[in-house]
Amino acid sequence: MAPVSRLGGRALAALLPDLRTLPGPVYAALSDSITALVLDGRIATETRLPSERELALALQISRATVTAAYDALRADGFLASRTGSGSFVSVPPGSRPRTSLARWSTAASDSPDVIDLSCATLPAPPGVLEVALASAAARITPLTHTDGYDPAGLPALRESVAARFAARGVSTSADQILITNGALHGLDLLLRLLIGPGDRVLTELPTYSGALDAIRGNNGRVVPVPMAAAGGWQVELIRATLRQTSPRLAYLTPDFHNPTGALIDESARRDVLRTARQTGTTVIVDESFVDLGFCPGARASAAIDPSVISIGSLSKPVWGGLRVGWLRAAPDLVHRLAALRASIDMAGPVLDQLIAVDLFDRLDEITAARVAELRPQRDALIAALARELPQWRIAVPQGGLSMWAELDAPLSTPLTLLATQVGVVLVPGSRFGIDGTLERFLRLPFSLPAQRLDEAVRRIAGVWTQLDRSNVSTRQLVVA
Ligand SMILES: Cc1ncc(COP(=O)(O)O)c(C=O)c1O
Repeated sequence: MAPVSRLGGRALAALLPDLRTLPGPVYAALSDSITALVLDGRIATETRLPSERELALALQISRATVTAAYDALRADGFLASRTGSGSFVSVPPGSRPRTSLARWSTAASDSPDVIDLSCATLPAPPGVLEVALASAAARITPLTHTDGYDPAGLPALRESVAARFAARGVSTSADQILITNGALHGLDLLLRLLIGPGDRVLTELPTYSGALDAIRGNNGRVVPVPMAAAGGWQVELIRATLRQTSPRLAYLTPDFHNPTGALIDESARRDVLRTARQTGTTVIVDESFVDLGFCPGARASAAIDPSVISIGSLSKPVWGGLRVGWLRAAPDLVHRLAALRASIDMAGPVLDQLIAVDLFDRLDEITAARVAELRPQRDALIAALARELPQWRIAVPQGGLSMWAELDAPLSTPLTLLATQVGVVLVPGSRFGIDGTLERFLRLPFSLPAQRLDEAVRRIAGVWTQLDRSNVSTRQLVVA
């Protein structure tokens, strides 16, 4: 398999600590540091490392030292070499996390004492759906006289979604909207239509695990680009990866990213979208969280570049159980997607779409109430972490439903396992990446009431201190 992107000597040197300050021989410090960067998702797997000569020059160390470090990485399965194509980052066999079925198989979360932090999602706002349902029921009779199959979606709902895009400064007609059974359904349809086996799809690292599963489920090849350590995009790295790998698609979440809650500013979007155009990469922007910001949003990606495909849904602002989402694309693409969709599930449920029309009329009011509810929960989670686990670092989320904690040891999976014993359901950081990296991170949703979050953090802190760190070495961090 050919490497998909390349890290230069100076770029790698900038990621490394001062090797001379680390204990032991310099070659071991170098190989351990690179291993840690891979496992933390700071260097994506399949990245081509600089040649030994180039890295030696950048680090001002002998070439023999770099050779020894690369040999150690190779011996541990973190580097693979191919004659003529250099050395590229890998992870040892057996470390790939499997698609999680844990959410569907756990019985633990049924107990009232269990605090479930596995999902960044909210229950429906009280009373809202009941009112929308009554209104939809009163309007369904004329529609029952039709065949009810509309693969592109109910015209009235397509109009509502288009109007909302227009209100955000994205001129949109109803024929640019496809109604889907949620944002993930929209992504899956796009992947089915737009990629073939082995096609590359650039993603942020970390990113929404469901999107990674969908890409791999459609035989796509994930090209992950690490987010900045302080949160947000590494714009130059994304642009360089686009140029080096010319991926078929890019799947990005610039509006309150899951799991970090980051908002990407307009100039970063502009730069990335311009480069994607040059490399012929179709950009899919996931706007699932766009209405859940604690600060003013950025200019919509599709307003910056109309060729961007936007996906969204009512799952996060209203309720996941509705299963109503949409995508915005060029009319001919919407037409092709509707034809594809008709071969899979025919069309979306009419009653649910009528409910959605009603909800769209009140969406600003609903989302304002959501944000007002979420802000104190986010603050409570931050305060609890600062009090109970001050050694963990978090970038304060600007929106969304979760934050991304950097732990002081790469023990996210063991913590997740131990946490179940004290009634807390967690998802390890590695679920938001590929190849078992990101063990130093944990996604923490703030979608529960403040006192539940407080209690969850107290329980997590209790087990965090019990974890055996004596065996922590970079070799043992990858958990299948
Ligand atoms: C970024 C992102 N996109 C899509 C989804 C799935 O959304 P839906 O319920 O609309 O399919 C989620 C759910 O967590 C998500 O976090």
